[in-house]
Amino acid sequence: MDAFAFARANRPRFLGELEEFLRIPSVSTQPEHQPDMLDAANWLRDQLLAVGFPRAEILPTAGHPIVFAEWSCRRPAAPTVLLYGHYDVQPADPLELWRTPPFEPVVVGDDLYARGASDDKGQLLAQIKAVESLSATAGEPPVSIRCLFEGEEESGSEHLDDFVTANRSILQADVALISDSSILSKDQPSIIYAVRGITYVEVEVTGPAGDLHSGRYGGAVHNPIHALAEMIAGLHDSQGRITIPGFYDRVQVLTPAERAGLARLPFDRHAWLREAGITTDWGEPEYSIVERTTARPTLDVNGIWGGYTQPGAKTVLPSKAFAKISMRLVPQQDPAEISRLIQDHFQAIAPPAVTVQVRELHHGQGAIVPLDSPAIQAAARAYAESFGAEPLFVREGGSLPVVATLRRELGIDSILMGFGLPDDNLHAPNEKLHLPNYFRGIDTVIRFLSYLA
Ligand code: BES
Ligand code: ZN
Repeated sequence: MDAFAFARANRPRFLGELEEFLRIPSVSTQPEHQPDMLDAANWLRDQLLAVGFPRAEILPTAGHPIVFAEWSCRRPAAPTVLLYGHYDVQPADPLELWRTPPFEPVVVGDDLYARGASDDKGQLLAQIKAVESLSATAGEPPVSIRCLFEGEEESGSEHLDDFVTANRSILQADVALISDSSILSKDQPSIIYAVRGITYVEVEVTGPAGDLHSGRYGGAVHNPIHALAEMIAGLHDSQGRITIPGFYDRVQVLTPAERAGLARLPFDRHAWLREAGITTDWGEPEYSIVERTTARPTLDVNGIWGGYTQPGAKTVLPSKAFAKISMRLVPQQDPAEISRLIQDHFQAIAPPAVTVQVRELHHGQGAIVPLDSPAIQAAARAYAESFGAEPLFVREGGSLPVVATLRRELGIDSILMGFGLPDDNLHAPNEKLHLPNYFRGIDTVIRFLSYLA
């Protein structure tokens, strides 16, 4: 039996194991899920040992631990591949919008519904199942494998950089394989050649020293919610351009060749509007939707609060107002510099009656991966044979800060080999994984590792 036959014959078990993994509510950002994070890390370590990794362990960080594993191939010339994925998931809220409970996986038709099914437990496990299929049928994997599975990706990978810096020797590899993204459609694979960076801040606006009666003070006291709303409204001009001075200084003009490449990608505006649940698009008019969502930097308010938000009415002029704001950055932008620029900008635009504090929550660098490496050739061939279509090369709007970290700390490039779909409801209610993609994903990784060898 070869690896593909093994994978096919073991599909029911591979699905059952994924369901087990998905039942653990490993939400990294919520302290009450701390024990679940350890359960997930333990489950993953046991899984790696069970498929045959001679070494698999849970290594501590200042936050959630890293699951590390290593399997050296006896063939002396075999390259080393670093597998990356994350075992943490986003919070499941709003719970009432889920059709089935987020941590009780359910198969409906071809789709498996659960928080983390696509992002990233299903994709991470596809990598492991490919290694299992190869080693179960050949005695060992065709290349040396190292695994770096983190538990803080969804909350900003706060301790990843320090971990990688401190553990360079055990992580050293020729190339990294990251399965934590999506392809264009179930029959059209794609390889990501750029991911965006991110700077995430929280803004606190303080007006009066305490809450005031809005009838006695309103009209003469600058309401901090108004002040915050005015400042936020000014962060974009009428053309959707970000107004923070210096924000675009390092943003490179897209070359005509790259714009032409992006314009050739299959994109159906109406399907996109439907998927987003909107009637018309918004943003920089001189850039296409594909460019705006992947190749241009953006700024979004992720949350805003203050004053009275409980049921009923309360006539209060609040003391404080808050917002969470994230900016997606192109690879040339420096997230730490952008953090300083937005802090300075808020100080400059703060109206005289309020004070503003801007705190950074996290940041991560974007990255570009070269398209001319033998590993990319291997990945393209693996996709083409597993999906029956040549992969297209795309930019990703989301962020995978680990790509820049691995480049900087280990000097290696990453292959972004994802198996999710655009309608997987990542970070949203009713997240799902298209099961044919799980199984084709396993086949694709089997091929990739074989070609690399
Ligand atoms: N897997 C996603 C990123 C992604 C989604 C890449 C879809 C490609 C296609 C990842 O888990 C994620 O959501 N990352 C966060 C990172 C942030 C918290 C630093 C993101 O992009 O919001
Ligand atoms: Zn992810």
